[in-house]
Amino acid sequence: MIEKIKQAAREAGQMMMKAHDFNVHSKGSAANYVSDIDIAVEKFLRQRLGEICPDADFMGEESDFTNSGKDKVWIVDPIDGTANFVRGMNMSAVSIALSDSDGILYGVVYDPYIDRMFYAHRGHGAYMNDEKIHVSDRDTEHSIISIAMSVYKKEYAPPCFKLAERIMMQCEDIRRVGSAAIELCNLAAGKIEMFFEARLYPWDYAAASLFITEAGGYISSMDQELSFNSVISIIAANTKENFELLKGEALECFDGIEII
Ligand code: IPD
Ligand code: CA
Ligand code: CA
Repeated sequence: MIEKIKQAAREAGQMMMKAHDFNVHSKGSAANYVSDIDIAVEKFLRQRLGEICPDADFMGEESDFTNSGKDKVWIVDPIDGTANFVRGMNMSAVSIALSDSDGILYGVVYDPYIDRMFYAHRGHGAYMNDEKIHVSDRDTEHSIISIAMSVYKKEYAPPCFKLAERIMMQCEDIRRVGSAAIELCNLAAGKIEMFFEARLYPWDYAAASLFITEAGGYISSMDQELSFNSVISIIAANTKENFELLKGEALECFDGIEII
């Protein structure tokens, strides 16, 4: 199964790499883009993944959720990092997860620009291009955090900046790639130590969340268990110490603010 999902992700990545002239539209808010390629890649994956496991519903960013109550669900972001993609920044990835009633069973994130394939099968470890990955053991002082500022819902930007400032004063540095999937993969592979985003959809984090738990890290929402059916905040870290620190600071910065 995992090899077939990886192959589908690779072909989706080729579609991204070959794309040159395409239309871009805004959806919802001015900063939220969708291109013809997002739609074409999702259409391709919907078809291909349906062949790989027909007994699963399909939740993708660019189409309606076919929810017929099946135990298994494909959770797909055809291009995570669309704003990077439409600007030609070469920092985007394809994200595919297959969930069941126990969480994420398979996850694949493919970055075609550097031919980097992350994948995991629950209970069997997480891999980056066939090398087993593990979160780093860096302490807070030597940690890098990836943190986003809630680009599509700017009312959450002030508490995000507050949190960024608080963590910055305690850790090494801050990064912002513009693809939550890649940022979470970086954490799973020991390249960064903490991640926070106030508002993410399941397709942004589903696959990469499996890499984090399989690689020995911690991931949940700020104020609830990890789930894959609604928009939630995501906190992740390499160690329990960093996780509790980030969670505590986030809860204080977002006190009284509901994520919707
Ligand atoms: C976005 C990226 C970005 C994150 C946004 C996501 P998209 O996904 O993951 O890093 O900050 O919240 O929506 O729209 O490029 O698929
Ligand atoms: Ca996304
Ligand atoms: Ca997307």
